[in-house]
Amino acid sequence: MGWARCVICFLAVCLHTCVCTGLPEPKSRTHCELGKFPCGNLPTCLPLQLQCDGKEDCSNGADEVNCGDNNGWPDHLQSQVVNPSLDSAGIPRDCHLDLPVVPYLCQCIYTHIKCEKLGLVSIPANISQDVTRLNLQHNLIESLQNNSLGKLTALRSLNLRGNRIRTLPAGAFKGLTNLGQLYLSENLLETLPAGAFQGLQRLKWLYLQRNELKSLHADVFQGLNSLNWLDLRFNSLQNLPSGLWCDHMPALLWLEMEGNDIEQLTSSSFTRCSSLTVVNVRNNSLKSIGRDTFTPLSSVWELDISWNSLAPLPIGTFNGLGHLKLLNLSYNSDMILSLDLFFGLDNLTSLDLRGLEMSQDCQHSRVLLSLENLHFVYFDDFSYCRYALQARGCSPKSDGISSLENLLALEFLRVVVWVLACFTVLGNSFVILGRLLIKNENNMHSLFIRNLCAADLLMGVYLIIIASRDVIYRNEFIQHALSWQESVLCQFSGFLAMLSSEVSVLLLAYMSMERCLIIVFPFRTMEPSTRQNQTFIACIWLFGLLIATLPFLIQDSTCFYGSSSVCFPLHLRSPYGQGWVYGAVVFIGLNLCAWFIILLCYVCMFVSIHRTRMRTTGQPTHKADWIGWRFFFIVLTDSLCWIPTVVLKLLVLHGVNISETFNAVIAVVVLPINSSINPILYSISTSNFKDGSLRIFRTRRQSLSRIVTGNSAGNTNMSARTSLDQGNPEGQVLVEEKESTL
Ligand SMILES: *[C@@H]1O[C@H](CO)[C@@H](O)[C@H](O)[C@H]1NC(C)=O
Ligand SMILES: *[C@@H]1O[C@H](CO)[C@@H](O)[C@H](O)[C@H]1NC(C)=O
Ligand SMILES: *[C@@H]1O[C@H](CO)[C@@H](O)[C@H](O)[C@H]1NC(C)=O
Ligand SMILES: *[C@@H]1O[C@H](CO)[C@@H](O)[C@H](O)[C@H]1NC(C)=O
Ligand SMILES: *[C@@H]1O[C@H](CO)[C@@H](O)[C@H](O)[C@H]1NC(C)=O
Ligand SMILES: *[C@@H]1O[C@H](CO)[C@@H](O)[C@H](O)[C@H]1NC(C)=O
Repeated sequence: MGWARCVICFLAVCLHTCVCTGLPEPKSRTHCELGKFPCGNLPTCLPLQLQCDGKEDCSNGADEVNCGDNNGWPDHLQSQVVNPSLDSAGIPRDCHLDLPVVPYLCQCIYTHIKCEKLGLVSIPANISQDVTRLNLQHNLIESLQNNSLGKLTALRSLNLRGNRIRTLPAGAFKGLTNLGQLYLSENLLETLPAGAFQGLQRLKWLYLQRNELKSLHADVFQGLNSLNWLDLRFNSLQNLPSGLWCDHMPALLWLEMEGNDIEQLTSSSFTRCSSLTVVNVRNNSLKSIGRDTFTPLSSVWELDISWNSLAPLPIGTFNGLGHLKLLNLSYNSDMILSLDLFFGLDNLTSLDLRGLEMSQDCQHSRVLLSLENLHFVYFDDFSYCRYALQARGCSPKSDGISSLENLLALEFLRVVVWVLACFTVLGNSFVILGRLLIKNENNMHSLFIRNLCAADLLMGVYLIIIASRDVIYRNEFIQHALSWQESVLCQFSGFLAMLSSEVSVLLLAYMSMERCLIIVFPFRTMEPSTRQNQTFIACIWLFGLLIATLPFLIQDSTCFYGSSSVCFPLHLRSPYGQGWVYGAVVFIGLNLCAWFIILLCYVCMFVSIHRTRMRTTGQPTHKADWIGWRFFFIVLTDSLCWIPTVVLKLLVLHGVNISETFNAVIAVVVLPINSSINPILYSISTSNFKDGSLRIFRTRRQSLSRIVTGNSAGNTNMSARTSLDQGNPEGQVLVEEKESTL
């Protein structure tokens, strides 16, 4: 009686400690919960998406400070430039002071003329020669006559956007020697003749986007000596202009090729394009990039080859791009990326690697760390952030399990992991000790239970390692992430978890088969001998050891066990990463088989018992319901723990995206939960427990030992007693015996 109270006190203290360690520390004033950020030194916390959204949400504006990665400013600039605003309100129709002749219906101010959406089919005649800006967008102009523009020598900006121009005569713009901006976007141009832009020696910006250009000859660009910006987006180009096209544009800085059909870039694509600073080949059909393609681009600082179908790039593809600041490789679904590619990109500030599969070459994982200027990195997977610790803005910020700050990001996870760890360790060691101390054993059942508990105990050790590491790394996890995941302890805990879960699964399956044999064929000697059982159990342990050691033998285990911060190799986030076959076979094949065996055995047993009972008593008793429920519960908990894993694994292999929190819950809660309730299910809550707990007031000591040692300890006496008490026929004794061995 005394020691029972002690045990209960001890349990209570343990649980309390566990829960308290798992709970977060009291929050400091500016510490915000996950997914929120603090407004500088104010106590306000706002959702992350309000950070750097261009609006000041904090009263002190702290959310818009240091936002830095201002990519997309070409688009911004574009919108400024393409619609040069000419206020329509209050514009005098007559502007004879500045321009003596203005076409009918056109608006003008100073020396700007605007003839928008007037249905014009040709360039209006009688435009004053002094006009500096001519806006003819959204008309029906189909061709440009030879001389219709030639006289307008003062013209700086000509906007022919949204017309129906199919072709340009050579020298169409001859004479426009002051023209700086030419808008030919949204027309129907299919080809351009050589020398189409001859004479435009001051042209800086040329817009040819959204035409139907299929190919371009180098000589098209003859004479564009000052061109800075060439916009060829959303055409149907299959190649870059051929030949030494850059020679014609010695000042070209910016090349926009987004949304074409370019399939490959070769070493001659950018020959002599050394002036280029921005190259955008986004959303093309790029399949390969030749070895020295980018070598001529010695001054490029932004390179965007996202949304293509690039095959893995050869090492050295980006050699010599020392000025490169922004590199966007995102969403090249066929690419398996090696971080070695980025070696030597010392000025790289922003790197977008979303939607890419990473090769797991761990040895080189420190390449990104050597890029001192890297401030913004975008990954698919949070855990890669550990490769770029110096980057202030690494996204995503969490993988559902860990965040940049904590190994276990969610508070509820921390608590649950501690509680599970305590339950598992205490419950299992309690049962093992109990069975060792109380010598009533040479019972097979007890051997099973002891082994099962030993296996489950390992899971408890694993949980404690993870939970304590979480406490150690609190608030600074990402700094330790790489060393943690490469550490021996992480490999070891992953090994423990794997060993535990597989041995536990196999033991349960074997146990159910063994009992099934005994119960379904009670009068035949189907029961395996003790020696056989021992051999089987030893084999199961060996097999479990083999499974858990395999990753160490066949590949670099750092990549396998250390692939997630909880060191459990479920690989839900990169289902086809290294060693995925192994994971699939173990988690889907083995577990599913074991579950089927257990299910089958229990169905057999239940049917058998039900039959016996009907034969002996004629009708199901109240007790049969209890057995039914226990069957149901055992199969249910096994299913609840394994089936989600199996289903998730299958879904993930079929390319379904799984919510991140879900992922976390599976990995550290659902899988281990079996280990913590197994002792209860198989040892404590047997049918004797019910009777035992009723008797607990009468014969405390006895029933406590019965609870501890489970059914096997007292079952014969118990059932004998019940049957004697109730004066039942012998058939009833048989049923009771069956029940208690389950
Ligand atoms: C253009 O100007 C000439 C004389 O300068 C005039 O005869 C002619 O009618 C004008 N045409 C239009 C379309 O305004
Ligand atoms: C343009 O000029 C060329 C000769 O320079 C001539 O052959 C052609 O017919 C002219 N086109 C138009 C539409 O006037
Ligand atoms: C890429 O282009 C296709 C059409 O060619 C378009 O549907 C898609 O939205 C584009 N993707 C991106 C990211 O721009
Ligand atoms: C990279 O490209 C993708 C789409 O092509 C775009 O959504 C993303 O913003 C780009 N990343 C950076 C850092 O510019
Ligand atoms: C990085 O940029 C600076 C300034 O633009 C330049 O001086 C330096 O050479 C660059 N680094 C490399 C490796 O080219
Ligand atoms: C079980 O009961 C028998 C008498 O029915 C007794 O001799 C035996 O010691 C009891 N065993 C235990 C473990 O209580």
